[in-house]
Parts: sequence; structure tokens; C-alpha cells
Amino acid sequence: MQQTLSVSRQVVIIGAGVMGRGIAMVAAAAGHPVCVYDANGRASVQAVETIHQHWQRQADKGKLSVADVARLGERLSRAEQLEQLAEAGLVIEAIVEDLAAKQALFCQLEQIVAADCLLATNTSSLSITAIAAAMAAPQRLVGMHFFNPAPAMRLVEIVRGLATEADVLEQVSATARAWGKETVLVRSSPGFIVNRIARPFYLESLRCLQQGLADCATLDRLLQQAGGFRMGPFALMDLIGLDVNLAVHRAIWQAMCFDPRYTPLWIQQEMVAAGWLGRKSGRGYYVYPQVEPAVVEPLPEPCPDWEQVAFNLVQPVAAVLAQRLQQAGVPVVGGHDTASDWLFRLGTAHVYLSDGRPAARREQVDRHPCLLLDQAVDFQHVSLLAAQSSPRLSAPDRQALEAVLGEAGIRLCHLPDAAGLPVLRTVAMLVNEAADVLQQGLASTEDIDRAMCLGLNYPQGPLAWGRRLGYGWLAQVLRHLADYHGDGHYRIAGWLQQQAFSSLSSPAEVL
Ligand code: NAI
Repeated sequence: MQQTLSVSRQVVIIGAGVMGRGIAMVAAAAGHPVCVYDANGRASVQAVETIHQHWQRQADKGKLSVADVARLGERLSRAEQLEQLAEAGLVIEAIVEDLAAKQALFCQLEQIVAADCLLATNTSSLSITAIAAAMAAPQRLVGMHFFNPAPAMRLVEIVRGLATEADVLEQVSATARAWGKETVLVRSSPGFIVNRIARPFYLESLRCLQQGLADCATLDRLLQQAGGFRMGPFALMDLIGLDVNLAVHRAIWQAMCFDPRYTPLWIQQEMVAAGWLGRKSGRGYYVYPQVEPAVVEPLPEPCPDWEQVAFNLVQPVAAVLAQRLQQAGVPVVGGHDTASDWLFRLGTAHVYLSDGRPAARREQVDRHPCLLLDQAVDFQHVSLLAAQSSPRLSAPDRQALEAVLGEAGIRLCHLPDAAGLPVLRTVAMLVNEAADVLQQGLASTEDIDRAMCLGLNYPQGPLAWGRRLGYGWLAQVLRHLADYHGDGHYRIAGWLQQQAFSSLSSPAEVL
């Protein structure tokens, strides 16, 4: 039976910085008496003041009543000494991200608080097991990983150290849910769910940039408009801080024994070395305030006299594109070529979804000029797609293909020929990472997908995305990327390999 912490029990927040303040607001809003402690007394005074001001602003906007503000204010206090925290029912630590400091704090705390007090850390990158190892009772410690800003973000990762007791885990999870949060359960491991699975979102675009395939603005537009991600990876890194992002990369890479899948890129190190840390330093991958006008690829001129466009309706994406063209008045004809995965053709030119092979390789194997298209989260509505052309695709054929897709409202962004296109590469690696987390028994399928959607606003969970594209097909994509790049970066998760053996090897349902 899961038991939430009674609202009459005091919640203690240690560390009155960005996270501590946010968590204190959440606990007070849920009805608990909340006490804030910080090693720096001024920080806790400021935190209490800031929180009061925040509530007052909410009241000014009509979001809280005067009585609400008074009630919340009465619940909030601060402590000068750790020894004053003996009444705590739950302690949430949000101090500096330093193993020795956190270990020392919890060793002190377990001498002060009652035996039934729950002890949680908000660490974002340290091992719960390692923090707990210094304690007399390591079974008491649990990870309670809130996201910034804590009052607004719905997700809390509940992290189980090797020694954490099931009862502690359940009480803390139930309490977070009673506070209006959604919880996911994860075993203590580098990056937990969200920070770990998010690595390829940055790394694949950084690799595309470093490989000279596109600039930051182009990659951001593609990931946003075709991938459906709320922000592009470069804009997001600028917001997070390039130093913070690189530190997380390094921590995970190190914790994973320097697995090449997580190797940071020299571009990241150069940017940090230059002090170009993103928005906070006025310059990162973009210069702030941003002045560049938004780039929009023009839609090609419509062609008044279309020849019929032949679609291979075996491919679900082909069926969607055919319908979009038909609605635009372009004559289409449908066939069923089960022996091949082309989407449509015009003259001798064939159009495919990229499967991770360069266009030149496809042309060599299939013996006709071709255009490769990137993935999109929603082909019914996508308006921008990355594309690659094979060497023998003539300029007029390419223009004709561009014009056809233009009729359906789809602009093409042509990238140099190489293995894979940005959205495909990103999605394949997100699925691969999620597959590893699943295989290692760190979290459930449902929690992995929920964590990525709630924690980072992904348009869909990576495992659901993988199921839609076909795990077998994605394993094939990763094999092509690995063949081309020849390093361990694209190593395929065992779980994905297994799925590949037991599933079809063509894209399943990509709508
Ligand atoms: P912060 O730097 O804003 O605040 C940390 C506070 O802890 C400071 O006020 C400092 O005086 C105090 N402090 C340091 N050592 C202390 C000690 N030994 N005893 C008591 N107080 C001490 O840090 P922030 O960003 O709030 O992060 C806190 C924790 O939350 C870290 O573990 C971080 O990894 C984690 N976290 C941070 C997120 C973020 O976006 N900032 C998101 C999720 C987790």
C-alpha cells in the first residue's frame, strides 16, 4: 500500500538555489509546512523573499487570492542550523552538484532527523548509490529528480539506488504524485532516463555540423519543423548553457567508461574554451539578441502541365504524399511494388526515404538516379524536409521533383550526400539509446516514453516512435550509419538487434 507523506509533516529543502526554491514552492502549494536551509544564510533569506514575491505576483495577476498568499506564507520558514530540522518528514537536498558535499550532508542529516523521515536528493548526474554509500543507513536515500522550473515541469524521476528500500521509493513516488507531479521510476545510472536518452538529440546535430552537412540554423529548423521537436538542438544548448551541456556529456561519457556513443565533439570544447556559452554570455551557436531574419526555402514555381507521378502505395508515406498531391490537383497513379521501397518516381528519377545509406550508394545498387528524403514526425502536415541527391540525378529532374513536392506544400532543404539525414539520424539514435535503457532494466517502456515527452516535450516517446518506424528497419539504418562512419558511435543496442530478428525489415507504419 503506497502512503503519501501527510500534509501535516514538514518538508525540508536544503540548498536554496534555483531548484530548492522551486521545490519549496511545490511542497508549500501541496499544503506542507516547508523549511528552507542553506549553508549560506543569505541565500535562504533571499529564497524566502523571492518565493513570497512570486506568490504576491501570482495574486496580482489574479491567480491566487489574498488568503492563499497568507496561507502559503505561513507555511514557509527558514532554518539557520541543520540541528533545527529534527521535525522533518521529508528532506529534499538541492545543494551543489558535488559527491563529497552531498555525502557529508546526508551523514549529518541521518543523525538529526527521525527514523521515519524520508531522505531524497535532487542530483541530476550523481549516483544515488554512491551518495548513499557514505550513510549509516543507505537504504533510506532515494533520488527525486525535479526538472527546472520545478513548479511548472510535471515530471519527477524517482531514482532507486542499489540499496534504496522499496517502501521509501513508494512513499516518495506517491508523495510526488500527490503534489501534482507525474513520476517515472529509474534505477540509479548515468543520466537516469531523460538526461541520458537526450544525448543523441544534441550529438547527432553536432556531428552533422562538424561533418559540414548543414549549419546550426538549418539543422534547428529541420529538427523543429520535420522532427516536431519544440526547440532545435542548438537553440536549446544555447538556452541550457554550452558549459552545462558539455559537463553533462562528459559526466555520462565518463560514467559509461568512455563508450564512443557518448564522446563529446571538439566543436563543443572549442565553444566553451572561447567563453561562448549561449544566451547567458551573449553568444553561443547564435549571437544574442538574435537579428538574423528567419530563413524560408521558397516554394518552387508550380508546373502547369504535370505528367503523371507514379506512387508505390506499398509504402505508407507514399500513400500520404500521393493524397497530398492529388488534393493539389497533380495527376497521380498508384501501384504496388512489394519488391522495392521507392515512394514515387518521375521519369527515371526515384524518390526514397533515407535508410542511412548515401544517395550515391542507392544509385549504385538500384541503378537509377534518386532523391532521398528525411523522416518527419507527421508526413500529413510536414512542410520542410531535408533531401540528398545521387550524382546522376540531373538538374531538370531534381527541379521537377522539387516542384512536385512543392505542389503538396513541401519545401526541400538539399544537403550534401552522406550517410543519413538529420531527423532520421537523431530519431534512430534516440530509439537506440532508449532500447539500451530498456534492455539494462533501468526503466519500463512506458516510463521511458513518458519521461521524454514530459521532461523534454518530445513529440512522441522514442520507443513508440521506434515501433512506428519498425525496430528492424531502424537497426538496418544504424548498421548503414555504422558501416559508413566506421566508429563505435552507432553501435546497435542488443535489444534493438533482437527486435530486428523478429520483425520485418521494412518501415512499418510511418504515418
Ligand atoms: P544553485 O547553485 O542554484 O543552488 C545551490 C545552493 O546550495 C546554493 O544556494 C548554495 O549556497 C547551497 N549549498 C551549497 N553547498 C551546500 C551545503 N553543503 N549545504 C547547504 N547548502 C549548500 O544550484 P541548482 O541549480 O539549484 O542545483 C541544485 C541541485 O539540483 C544540483 O544537485 C543540481 O544538479 C540539481 N538539478 C539542477 C537543475 C537545474 O536546472 N539547475 C535541474 C535538476 C537538478
